[in-house]
Amino acid sequence: MKTVKNILDNDEFNLRDFNVGDISWYSPFEYKDLINKNIKNGIEIGSHLGESANDIIKSFEHLNLICIDVWDLNLFKNDGFSIPNIDNVYEQFLSNIVHYGIDDRITPIKLSSEDASKIINDKFDFCYIDGLHNEKNIYLDLERWYPKLNNDGFICGDDWLFNTINPNKWSNYTSIEEHNVDFENERGGSLRRGLKRFAKENKLKLYSKYNFWWLDKNV
Ligand SMILES: C[S@@+](CC[C@H](N)C(=O)[O-])C[C@H]1O[C@@H](n2cnc3c(N)ncnc32)[C@H](O)[C@@H]1O
Repeated sequence: MKTVKNILDNDEFNLRDFNVGDISWYSPFEYKDLINKNIKNGIEIGSHLGESANDIIKSFEHLNLICIDVWDLNLFKNDGFSIPNIDNVYEQFLSNIVHYGIDDRITPIKLSSEDASKIINDKFDFCYIDGLHNEKNIYLDLERWYPKLNNDGFICGDDWLFNTINPNKWSNYTSIEEHNVDFENERGGSLRRGLKRFAKENKLKLYSKYNFWWLDKNV
């Protein structure tokens, strides 16, 4: 597997100007205090143009991150986000990572979450899930990636509030909350329902803070 730096050094893409398009939906990653600061091996499912990868890498000094994405804007559009007018979004991601100065710490894998999970057998200290935000796909991503966590690994993701709470009210959700995992009470098809079902079936605790959610083993 090659880092973005290896790919650049091999002249495998044309370096472009920095561009992340319209990311008005983006919630910065501000949760490093909840996570062991010494984490080393991480994976992100759904990297888009590299904003969260950059935030995450810069939050943990020793972390290297594998970024999984199909880098296909049609998939992104179908998930309810505004999409930027960028032709080769993979090349733009690679370029942004170089401009962020983190190209030696990011390894991109241009595959679907499903296909990537079949070829990656490593164990991870950290897994950030931000792919498709619906019941079926969050559940599938958890099934694929939760077993690849180290014993004390941390699995988390974005968009706990998205599509459920009116953005005008998001500022009411800045404290840590633990949630019951009675998924039957959640709207059919929602991210929350998929998350809660996985948590319930695997006897995990489910927490959120603002738009960020994470799972923890029951103690
Ligand atoms: C919300 S965006 C990710 C945003 C990014 N994490 C950030 O905050 O900067 C979701 C991304 O997931 C990718 N994606 C959706 N479904 C996927 C799948 N099944 N496998 C791989 N990538 C997927 C889309 O291509 C899109 O780039």
